[in-house]
This record gives sequence, C-alpha cells and structure tokens, in this order.
Amino acid sequence: MSTIVFLGGGRITSAILAGLRLGKSRYRLVVHDRNPDKLRDLKKRYAVAVEPDLNRAVEQADMLIVAVRPSSVRELLGMVGNVNRRSLAVSLAAGIPLRVLSQVTGPHMRWARAMPSPVCRSGRGLTAVAFPRSLPRADRKRVQDFFASFGHVVQIPESKFNAFTVTYSCSHGYHALATLARVGQEAGLDRKTALLASAHALADGIIAWRGGTHPLESLLEEAVTPGGIAATTAAAMDAAGYGRAVRRGVAAGLRRARRNAGK
Ligand SMILES: NC(=O)c1ccc[n+]([C@@H]2O[C@H](COP(=O)([O-])OP(=O)(O)OC[C@H]3O[C@@H](n4cnc5c(N)ncnc54)[C@H](OP(=O)(O)O)[C@@H]3O)[C@@H](O)[C@H]2O)c1
Repeated sequence: MSTIVFLGGGRITSAILAGLRLGKSRYRLVVHDRNPDKLRDLKKRYAVAVEPDLNRAVEQADMLIVAVRPSSVRELLGMVGNVNRRSLAVSLAAGIPLRVLSQVTGPHMRWARAMPSPVCRSGRGLTAVAFPRSLPRADRKRVQDFFASFGHVVQIPESKFNAFTVTYSCSHGYHALATLARVGQEAGLDRKTALLASAHALADGIIAWRGGTHPLESLLEEAVTPGGIAATTAAAMDAAGYGRAVRRGVAAGLRRARRNAGK
C-alpha cells in the first residue's frame, strides 16, 4: 500500500482526506503539520496517521503532497533534510512554478503540480495536474490515480496553470449564489426561499449542460424569451458591467498568482 504524506494539515488537506474517505481509498495516509491540535483533529475525523516531525514524515512518503500556503513553501522545504530516496512530490501551492520548487529542493525531489478544490470533500470536483516533461510516465500515473480517487482529473500545461487556478475556484459559485440570494431577498423573498431559488437557478442548468450534449448557446437561447424577463435582466446585468467585473476579478487573481512565484 502506498504511503501519501501531506505536509500541511489545513483546509485543502482536510477536504482531500474527506474525499478519500468517501472513496474508500487504498492509500496509507499520513499528515504533518506544525500545529498539534490540527493533527489531533485530523486523526480523530479521518483516522489518518499523523507525524509531527517533518523529516520522519518525509522519509516514509511514497508521494508527498505539499499543502502549505504559498508563502510557507520555501520555509517548509528548506527544513527538509536529505532524504534517503528520491521522492515524488506534488505541490498544491497556487502560483509557485515547478522550476522554483525544483530549485528549492534540488534533484532529490521529482515535482508535479496539482490544483484541486475543496469541493473534493463530497467526492465531486476536479483536479488539474501539470508535469515537467522529464517526469516519468509511471510517476504521472501515480499522481493522476491519486487525485482520480476523489474526483475528476484534467492534465494541462503548466503555462495554463494560473489561468486554470483563477477560473476554477468554487468560490465563484458561492460568490454568485450569495450575491443572487441577497438581491432576491431585497426583491422580497425570505432568505431560505432566496437561497433555494438562487441555488437552483445557478446549479441545475449547469449540471444538465455538463452531463448533456446541448451547446451552451442553445440552452441560453431556450432560457431567454426575447423581450422577456430573463432577457431584460441579463441585458441590464451586462450593461451594468457584469462581463467587466468578472474580467477584472480574474485579472486581479492572475496578478496575485504571479506574485506567489516570487514568494
Ligand atoms: N483551500 C483551498 O481551497 C485550496 C485549493 C487548492 C489549492 N490550495 C493550495 O493549498 C495550499 C494550502 O492551502 P490551505 O487553504 O489548506 O491553507 P491552510 O488552511 O492555511 O493550511 C496550511 C497548513 O499548513 C501549516 N503550515 C504552514 N507552514 C508550515 C510548516 N513550515 N510546517 C508545518 N506546517 C506548516 C499551516 O499552519 P499555520 O496555520 O500555523 O500557518 C496550516 O495548518 C496553498 O498553497 C493553496 O494555494 C488551496
């Protein structure tokens, strides 16, 4: 049984562990974090092994998952001593390129990147992976199999990773839900009904589109009677700068991701 060691036991690690437990994973799971209380909590919730000593954690890994915040990656990797064998490591850190990871650790780690979402907690969701050209096929498969055990996996070139990271965040859906429900309440609905209506409005059609064969344009046309209420609402949203707001948000996210590379 392969041992997967998480370095960092925060939000995304917790969500992945929940997804792995749902999928009845066949991995031995170990978590390292500098906060003993977080380790105790993860052990209790997900029945994982915990290892408070960084180097002992790294030594037992068949695959390392680096899940600390981008600003902590260099510090954490700088504390890893010489490992006996050449480890396969996957970084979840947004914005930090493979080239930087390899520079920090030197040749004793083979790197891949992955971008999961906390939605993997429910066994859904998607993880993007990116590999350096030099990574052997067997390593690629190990990384893909691991992330596929709690959701879908898509491989993309590393050059697209920041664009994917910014576009893919499940926060977009939550943000849209919170905004639409708030405005629905202002229009007269109680909070529960506003959330219900907004959740169905945003989720149902999109799930059906993803699982079906109809092009988005034809579904949009079907949902919007010319001159009707939905058409009037969408046109007013566009005129108020809906597209511009999304573009500005994505551009700001991209700038933030690029800054992470220098952290
Ligand atoms: N959250 C998401 O939705 C998501 C999705 C995809 C990718 N990611 C990526 O995943 C990474 C982790 O994100 P997160 O939201 O899970 O962050 P988080 O909740 O802050 O978890 C990181 C954990 O690592 C610990 N840590 C930091 N430096 C350490 C060190 N030197 N030694 C041991 N433990 C250390 C932190 O402890 P302290 O609290 O003491 O600092 C914290 O418990 C980030 O790089 C992020 O870009 C996150």
